[in-house]
Amino acid sequence: MDVQDIESQSVDSPVTRSAIFLVATLHPGEPAREQVRALCGDLGGLVRSVGKRVPTGNLSCVIGFAAAAWEGLFGAPRPASLHAFREFGSGQRKALATPGDILLHIRAEHMDLCFELAALVIKRLGAAVTVVDEVQGFRYFDMRSIIGFVDGTENPGPREVAKFTLVGEEDANFAGGSYVLVQKYLHDMTGWEALSTVEQEHIIGRTKLSDIELDAAIKPSCSHSSLTTLEEGGQEIKILRDNMPFGRPGAGEFGTYFIGYARSPAPIEQMLENMFVGKPVGNYDRLLDYSRAVTGGLFFVPTVDFLEGLED
Ligand code: HEM
Repeated sequence: MDVQDIESQSVDSPVTRSAIFLVATLHPGEPAREQVRALCGDLGGLVRSVGKRVPTGNLSCVIGFAAAAWEGLFGAPRPASLHAFREFGSGQRKALATPGDILLHIRAEHMDLCFELAALVIKRLGAAVTVVDEVQGFRYFDMRSIIGFVDGTENPGPREVAKFTLVGEEDANFAGGSYVLVQKYLHDMTGWEALSTVEQEHIIGRTKLSDIELDAAIKPSCSHSSLTTLEEGGQEIKILRDNMPFGRPGAGEFGTYFIGYARSPAPIEQMLENMFVGKPVGNYDRLLDYSRAVTGGLFFVPTVDFLEGLED
């Protein structure tokens, strides 16, 4: 098959106002694996059935698989760079790995669409999996993260997004696939809100109201934006993020669900190292003084052709 004929999953779905993130562990045994493969073949049809009911709702669903589950589910070969989530940092400031074999990233304009699809998918998976984490995310005003700053500005544009997110000839068996890394963060909002706006802007590296990058003369080297900007041979290496705020004010929970897609896990892992360990070591991301990662998982997102091929 020519590379241009490959259909990727909807990694670069348009920005939506709602999302559901589901992480599940797979039960042992062939019947459970068979049930997951059956869902893979049916997923496109389910998205069309639910999505058609609200044509402007932009419903999409991406499914990804962790290293531990890949071989049992699909055998050899495996995606060249798929491995267990690598941890970075230590103590309070740690990007930790948590259990999870399957990730579902469901996006739509309206939560009812996400909810309906999530319910159908869970029903199909039945006793084959245990859902270990489930987050309903919402778009917060003008693309703000829950900490008040606009999030997603420096994502790759439409012309370069495939280059940064889709596997190419470097792993021909899996060309058109993508790697996705997720982390659920909880924020200390009392601490964050006690900072002045200028202090917050130095931590992020952008202005709060107008979302303008701080001038190089005043932008600290430990700002979130500095530590997550990567360059290789004079070229910037980008990832595609679609973070979502979530929370329960009554329980004091204010969160960011981080999700990053890339052509290889390497740039996302480099960003995590810069944030949690520091660049140089100790020059870490101060956002982490107010944000704690409570989950972490790395998954591979195969192409639609791969998923549909499982039906045969
Ligand atoms: C606590 C969770 C996080 C929050 C609230 C957050 C928020 C933000 C905000 C407000 C921006 C500036 C606007 C933008 O360009 O999007 C930003 C930029 C960025 N973030 Fe995060 N982020 C979080 C975690 C992460 C993680 C874990 C990574 C990567 C591993 C990451 C990678 C990036 C990148 C690549 C940029 C763009 C940098 C640039 O080119 O200027 N973020 N983030």
